[in-house]
Amino acid sequence: MDDLVQIVESAKADFAVAEQPAALEDAKARYLGKSGSLTALMRGLGALSPEEKRTRGQAINRAKAEVEAALNARREALAEMAMQKKLAAEAIDVSLPGRTLARGGVHPVIRTWMRIEEIFGSIGFDVADGPEIESDWFSFTALNNPPNHPARSMQDTFYVDRCDGTGMQLPLRPHTSPMQVRYAQTHQPPIKVIAPGRTYRVDSDATHSPMFHQVEGLWIDENISFSDLKGVYTDFLRRFFETDDLKVRFRPSYFPFTEPSVEVDMAFTTGPKKGRWLEISGAGEVHPNVVRNYGLDPEKYIGFAFGSGLERLTMLRYGIDDLRLFFEGDLRFLRQFNE
Ligand code: DAH
Repeated sequence: MDDLVQIVESAKADFAVAEQPAALEDAKARYLGKSGSLTALMRGLGALSPEEKRTRGQAINRAKAEVEAALNARREALAEMAMQKKLAAEAIDVSLPGRTLARGGVHPVIRTWMRIEEIFGSIGFDVADGPEIESDWFSFTALNNPPNHPARSMQDTFYVDRCDGTGMQLPLRPHTSPMQVRYAQTHQPPIKVIAPGRTYRVDSDATHSPMFHQVEGLWIDENISFSDLKGVYTDFLRRFFETDDLKVRFRPSYFPFTEPSVEVDMAFTTGPKKGRWLEISGAGEVHPNVVRNYGLDPEKYIGFAFGSGLERLTMLRYGIDDLRLFFEGDLRFLRQFNE
């Protein structure tokens, strides 16, 4: 074999086994470097005749060009391999689920709360908020329920220590009714307000929870009668349940803060719960003693109040039969209200 062909083959073989750029450059030096074999052949041309020098010189240059082409091809191949290796090392698994922000949802009881604000807001009721740790006076006495009155035991109240050295205790409000007095004392008639919020009682079973929600309603003016209560509350229920297929009854009852007092019952006239009366609210015409505690003259001002349980309304609206589901935080339950 021609010595040039041999050099080219040997250079290609050397380049092919070079795995690193440095090894490739070493191999290059053996052929094209200062003491490389092709360089040596070029130097040897000086001893030849001009004719021979030309043909031999052209042949060496062709071999040199071939070696350079092989060298460049191998350089590119090594660079490509290095790039692939780097990409593989930095690979992102696009099939992994992304890290997204978890989206919260509205709790069904809060959904009821929001709907109630919307419905009463649309007929001109203000929305008020007040303390959950209440005074005895606002919780009971102002509502015509004096110390030692037997009606106090209607509610199994929680108390918290005052921690101020007096050894006294404050009730966690057992109903939203204190808000009647707080609001009426700071506003002028006509007074038209709802006060939704958390309430507390020592009670726990499938239909009672120690913490629950109520909405208080109050409309006081010069002539707000029991028939206004009937109209407003019936209309509220129809809008809340989005149906006219329900009956409402006002059953005589007793609360210290109203006279007359009623329990409001409702029954659907269609559907699976058809005909079953369910108690949903206490209500009545506000007792004159309570109107006096508002700071108003009961000879001039009169009106109605009601207090309804939000859990109860929510259970009826969605057909839920165990109230504890609201407080267990089970996402399988809660997600159903946020689809
Ligand atoms: N506060 C009563 C309760 O929790 C409910 C109630 C009854 C509120 C009659 C009222 C009312 O405003 O007039 O049992």
